[in-house]
Amino acid sequence: MASSSCFHVILFCSFLFFTSTIAQNQTSFRPKGLIIPVMKDGSTLQYLTQIQQRTPLVPVSLTLDLGGQFLWVDCDQGYVSSSYKPARCRSAQCSLAGATGCGECFSPPRPGCNNNTCGLFPDNTVTRTATSGELASDVVSVQSSNGKNPGRNVSDKNFLFVCGATFLLQGLASGVKGMAGLGRTRISLPSQFSAEFSFPRKFAVCLSSSKSKGVVLFGDGPYFFLPNREFSNNDFQYTPLLINPVSTASAFSAGQPSSEYFIGVKSVKINQKVVPINTTLLSIDNQGVGGTKISTVNPYTVLETSLYNAITNFFVKELANVTRVASVAPFGACFDSRNIGSTRVGPAVPQIDLVLQNENVIWTIFGANSMVQVSENVLCLGFVDGGVNSRTSIVIGGHTIEDNLLQLDIARSRLGFTSSILFRQTTCANFNFTSIA
Ligand SMILES: *[C@@H]1O[C@H](CO)[C@@H](O)[C@H](O)[C@H]1NC(C)=O
Ligand SMILES: *[C@@H]1O[C@H](CO)[C@@H](O)[C@H](O)[C@H]1NC(C)=O
Ligand SMILES: *[C@@H]1O[C@H](CO)[C@@H](O)[C@H](O)[C@H]1NC(C)=O
Ligand SMILES: *[C@@H]1O[C@H](CO)[C@@H](O)[C@H](O)[C@H]1NC(C)=O
Ligand SMILES: *[C@@H]1O[C@H](CO)[C@@H](O)[C@H](O)[C@H]1NC(C)=O
Ligand SMILES: *[C@@H]1O[C@H](CO)[C@@H](O)[C@H](O)[C@H]1NC(C)=O
Repeated sequence: MASSSCFHVILFCSFLFFTSTIAQNQTSFRPKGLIIPVMKDGSTLQYLTQIQQRTPLVPVSLTLDLGGQFLWVDCDQGYVSSSYKPARCRSAQCSLAGATGCGECFSPPRPGCNNNTCGLFPDNTVTRTATSGELASDVVSVQSSNGKNPGRNVSDKNFLFVCGATFLLQGLASGVKGMAGLGRTRISLPSQFSAEFSFPRKFAVCLSSSKSKGVVLFGDGPYFFLPNREFSNNDFQYTPLLINPVSTASAFSAGQPSSEYFIGVKSVKINQKVVPINTTLLSIDNQGVGGTKISTVNPYTVLETSLYNAITNFFVKELANVTRVASVAPFGACFDSRNIGSTRVGPAVPQIDLVLQNENVIWTIFGANSMVQVSENVLCLGFVDGGVNSRTSIVIGGHTIEDNLLQLDIARSRLGFTSSILFRQTTCANFNFTSIA
């Protein structure tokens, strides 16, 4: 009796000792946030990032997808890791991911092909192609950050991702091995990082307009950019994030709410005058059609045809004193840039206002974010016609959000936006990537 209770005590003691060692290590370093760099690929105009994954760690290049569901990577070619773990059917991981199916694989086991695993549908949102793939976990390592500089690297040993296939990489930038989904799901990068490192469910995106890298910062602000510019709550305007009840992604995700970030544009103004548009298109209907989303996989802002025509024509009228020149695809309204002055926030053209939940919450788009220099003397309005049956009426694309700081506050379901930070005499390329680890 006595010896048995002593045995229990010893066990209990060593258990305590063990957990306190872990706790000590965790409290000795808990990152305030994490960062990943973002580079723009010149040929595809995709925004690329890099993380380290597997054992041993290797750098993995990924196309950044703000509204994407999760991390997916090609497991068919070159996936070597001693820490790869398929998610077993009915495990907590499958349920967290919302993966209900149970799969078998008839070839010898390898990453992406194991028996008794649950799966999801990784999709290439650039080409709108999807397939099915095994849910798995592996080590992911990224740099921690205090919002100002990168710090030491931290690892999540059981980071969930989905195995894609080599063909799914078609249409992605050269060297890319998958996509990094930052969308509204429980297994997107921001959700897993916040849960693993216990920081607020917020992240900020700052895409650079130049060849220098921009940044995604996971965790709460303030966020700092050189020279000594600080962005905290007061520097953002906020608008609610809206949920589209119907997935706009792959056909396989039908029935799921969309993982993408929608906002409520109520009207559009150019030079502070209301552009006459069919406002029905601005709300999301019960089929998930309509509304406004933000996307990093669309290089330019895409508008449903009637909105495209109304906005383009209005803009052309407001810029009537500047010589219009032949259109350059994919744009419709192009101008002789020699007639257009320049300002801190880009070419001196009429400002475009997206009026949000009320007349006081306005996202203003200045020349740097509305105009695209297509050749030495030609500047085009950087909006693209999305067709008459476009699923989402306004897709705010990469060019429109470059050098804007966006904060996705998932916990409060709101978007913080700054409009152009060129006004603040900084850019998204001004994050100080000098490590202080
Ligand atoms: C805690 O950290 C020390 C030194 O940093 C390391 O040697 C040890 O293995 C860690 N223990 C655990 C349980 O992670
Ligand atoms: C996987 O399961 C199927 C059906 O249960 C079985 O036929 C097959 O041999 C298994 N494959 C491996 C590699 O164990
Ligand atoms: C930390 O991560 C960065 C970026 O992923 C990488 O370049 C660097 O080599 C890593 N440092 C260490 C010490 O592993
Ligand atoms: C406005 O758009 C809606 C949705 O596409 C359409 O059903 C309606 O006919 C349009 N109204 C007008 C006046 O064009
Ligand atoms: C065109 O008009 C805008 C204001 O409407 C003005 O700011 C700009 O200087 C004018 N450009 C030329 C070339 O006259
Ligand atoms: C970037 O950060 C490092 C580390 O804090 C600092 O030494 C360096 O001066 C910073 N760079 C600039 C241009 O301020």
